[in-house]
Amino acid sequence: MIKIVPTTPYQDQKPGTSGLRKKVPVFQQPNYAENFIQSIFDSLDGYQGKTLVIGGDGRFYNREVIQTAIKMAAANGFGKVMVGQGGILSTPAASHIIRKYKAFGGIILSASHNPGGPTEDFGIKYNIGNGGPAPEKITDAIYVRSKVIDAYKIANIPDINLDRIGSQSIAGMTVSVIDPVEDYANLMESLFDFPAIRNLLNLGFRIVFDAMHAVTGPYAKEIFENRLGAPLGSVRNFVPLPDFGGHHPDPNLVHAKELYDEMMGDNAPGFGAASDGDGDRNLILGEGIFVTPSDSLAILAANANLAPGYSSGISGIARSMPTSQAADRVAARLGVNMFETPTGWKFFGNLLDEDLVTICGEESAGTGSSHVREKDGLWAVLLWLNILAVRGESVADIVRQHWATYGRNYYSRHDYEEVDAAAANSLIEALRNRLDTLPGTMIGHLKVTAADDFAYHDKIDGSVSKNQGIRILFEGGSRIVFRLSGTGTSGATLRVYIERYEEDCMKHDLDTQEALADLIAAAESIADIRSRTGRDTPSVIT
Ligand code: G6P
Ligand code: ZN
Repeated sequence: MIKIVPTTPYQDQKPGTSGLRKKVPVFQQPNYAENFIQSIFDSLDGYQGKTLVIGGDGRFYNREVIQTAIKMAAANGFGKVMVGQGGILSTPAASHIIRKYKAFGGIILSASHNPGGPTEDFGIKYNIGNGGPAPEKITDAIYVRSKVIDAYKIANIPDINLDRIGSQSIAGMTVSVIDPVEDYANLMESLFDFPAIRNLLNLGFRIVFDAMHAVTGPYAKEIFENRLGAPLGSVRNFVPLPDFGGHHPDPNLVHAKELYDEMMGDNAPGFGAASDGDGDRNLILGEGIFVTPSDSLAILAANANLAPGYSSGISGIARSMPTSQAADRVAARLGVNMFETPTGWKFFGNLLDEDLVTICGEESAGTGSSHVREKDGLWAVLLWLNILAVRGESVADIVRQHWATYGRNYYSRHDYEEVDAAAANSLIEALRNRLDTLPGTMIGHLKVTAADDFAYHDKIDGSVSKNQGIRILFEGGSRIVFRLSGTGTSGATLRVYIERYEEDCMKHDLDTQEALADLIAAAESIADIRSRTGRDTPSVIT
C-alpha cells in the first residue's frame, strides 16, 4: 500500500518569511508539492506515531495538496492526521489545534493575503509543536533536503472524504476530519467577555466584518452572528472561494475599500473590520476613523486587562522594529517588558513561550497574543469589541483618549514596489556606509541622534539576526527606517517607515502625510530615493 516514488529535485524550494510561496502552475509541476512535503518530513525527527494537523485557507489547489499530504503522512509513519472539514483551517486556528491536541506539528496551506486561483499564488508552511512557524534552522534544513531529494513516500489509497466529520483508519494511520471552527470559537469565548459584547450588540451597536471570501467567513459567522447575536448580514463575503471572488484578500484601505468608504460615510456602523486570506491579519475601523496597526497594538495592550483572558495583566509587549513606538509608551507606563524584534512573526515565538510577553504586533496588520503562536485577525477584532463593550465609548473616542494620555506617534509607510534589486541593495548599502557619520548632523532642522543597522540578539536561543533595517533616529523621538521587504516576488520592494512623536494634544488632528512632511523630505535627502530607484513617488502609502 505504501509506494516509494522516485523523483527529481527542484532547486527553488526555499521557504521565505512564511513558508514556500509560488504560483499555482509552479506547484502543479510533477512532484513539486510531494518533493516539498517529503523534504519537510525528512527534516524532522521523532514524529513516528504522532499527530500532524493539516488545513488551509481554501484557495485554489488546497484540496488536491491536502489529499497528497494526508497520504504522505500515512506513508511516512505519522499516527494520526487532524484535518479541517473541507480542508479548511485558518492559520490561527491551526496553531490552536496543534497546541490543544499536542500535535507534533502542522502543515498549513496558504499564501496569506496574496490572490488565489489557477494562475495565482499557493503556499505550504510547516508549524512546529508550539503552534508557531518553523524556525530558520528547520526551514533551512527543508531547503537543503529539497535540493537533493530523490524519492518520496505515499500511501496508494483513494481520496479521503474531507467533507464528512469523523475518524477513519487509512494505511495504518487515523484521519480525523474535524470541525475547523468549534475549538477556535471556544478559545475566543474563553478569552473575551462574550456576554458584554452580546449586550452591546443587543443595544443596537452595529458591526460589519468583511471576510473577503477567505477563510474567516465560517469563523466569523459562528462567532459574531451565532454566538454573539449580531444581526444576519453583519458578516459579509463569508463563503470562502478558491479565487477569493477574484479579489485580493488583503485587509487594507485599498483592497477593503468598500468597507472603508462605508465606515467613513454617513450612517456608518460603529465598528468595521476585515481579515486576510488565511485569517491572521486584521483591519480595524471605527465610525469615521481608521486605526493604524501600530496604534491598535498600543491600544489593545493598554486595555487588554478589560478582557477576562488578560484580567491579571500582561507580562510584556513585543513589536517588530519598524512598527511605531506607540506600544513602548504603554509598556513603560504599565511597567512591563518591551521587546523590539525583526519583521516576521516567528521572532515572537520564543518570547511568548517564555512568557516574557503576552501581546505582539506588527505594522503589517498583524496582532496577537500568547493564546496561539500566530497573529490572529479575529482575536484582534474580538479584543476591540470587548474593550468597546466595557468602556462604552466609540472607537474614535478611545483612540483620541489614548493619544491624549500617551501622545500620538504619527506613522506612515512608503513602499516602492518592484524596483530594480541592484538599485535597492545599493541604496541600503550606501546608507549602511554612512551610519557612523550621521549622528550629530542636521537634516533640515532635524538633528540625527543615532543611526544603526538593526540586529536582534535572541537571548533565549542565542541566535543573532543581522541587517534587519537601517534606523535613523532624530531628536524628540522621530524616526525613519529603511528596509527591503522579505516577501516580494519580483524585483525588490523598498519600505520607508516614517514616524514622528507628538505629545501636544492640540496637534493630534493633523493629516498624517502633512505631519510627517519634514521627515519624508529628510528620507529623500538621506537616501536619494528618486535618483536611485527612478521613482518620483511611492507605489503604496499606508
Ligand atoms: C508576512 C509576515 C509578517 C511580516 C509581513 C511583511 O505577513 O508574516 O510577519 O510582517 O509579511 O513582511 P515584509 O518583509 O514584506 O515587510
Ligand atoms: Zn495572512
